[in-house]
Amino acid sequence: MPKILITGRGGSGKSTLVTLLARVLGDRGKVLVVDTDESNLGLCKMLGQEPPALTLMGCLGGKSAVKEKLLASADEKKKVFVDNLTIDSLPDECLGGQWPARYLRIGKIERSLEGCACPMGAVARSFLKELTVGQDEWVLVDTEAGVEHFGRGVPQGADRVVIVVDPSQEALLLAAKAQKLCADLNKKFIVVLNKVDAAASAYLRQELAARGMVVVGTIPFIKDIWQANMLGETLAIDTCREEMEALAISLGGFNGIN
Ligand SMILES: Nc1ncnc2c1ncn2[C@@H]1O[C@H](COP(=O)(O)OP(=O)(O)OP(=O)(O)O)[C@@H](O)[C@H]1O
Ligand SMILES: [Mg+2]
Repeated sequence: MPKILITGRGGSGKSTLVTLLARVLGDRGKVLVVDTDESNLGLCKMLGQEPPALTLMGCLGGKSAVKEKLLASADEKKKVFVDNLTIDSLPDECLGGQWPARYLRIGKIERSLEGCACPMGAVARSFLKELTVGQDEWVLVDTEAGVEHFGRGVPQGADRVVIVVDPSQEALLLAAKAQKLCADLNKKFIVVLNKVDAAASAYLRQELAARGMVVVGTIPFIKDIWQANMLGETLAIDTCREEMEALAISLGGFNGIN
């Protein structure tokens, strides 16, 4: 089953979409939510889960160990994950929540002057490439805003890339850029509109179609989503279950398409 990476501009609704998809896919099997955003902290609250005791980078010995193993020159790179890496082989201390939906953090910036987030990018890239996903299992990858994860090669390990487009010019420009970046990596690419009304949806669909991009899902602006987020409450699926189930089918979620 697919590893799905969600990308888009800042605040477009990437973490919201990851959470809503985790709800519907979790009714059908196991979902691992992978948080590759080294800055934002709120995804586990949306999911209604406590953060895991350790980040994946912490499990691998911390930033300096990762730098030494994964960012070394090609002939000095060392293997950091077990052979046959699966969802079930992950250490419990780096997983939050309970199955059917669990939450893994790659790593967060913790201290001023600790350096850039390249080691987190290297862990995310390598982890997703090596992770094998079984029948009735899905991996949903939340990303930081913009395109830095493309530069780091994080989408290489994903089967599908979803770009969230909100009603803004920046989102349209970014969608066109992500289309090209996905083509560079030979990755399947689809668009989900978020926070749209009928007029915005019609305009964005027309603009995206003119650039050869197809919209497969639409989420309206829903006040309950925005309010739950502000209050730090778990995000419920009831306001847009139908849209999410349809999207999950398009993503190969329920029908055996891989
Ligand atoms: N369909 C929606 N209806 C109403 N509010 C929404 C919707 N989708 C997202 N929001 C709100 O928009 C804000 C940004 O959402 P979210 O955090 O999911 O975006 P993001 O793309 O992950 O942001 P970042 O780039 O900072 O990681 C939040 O307040 C969220 O509740
Ligand atoms: Mg986010």
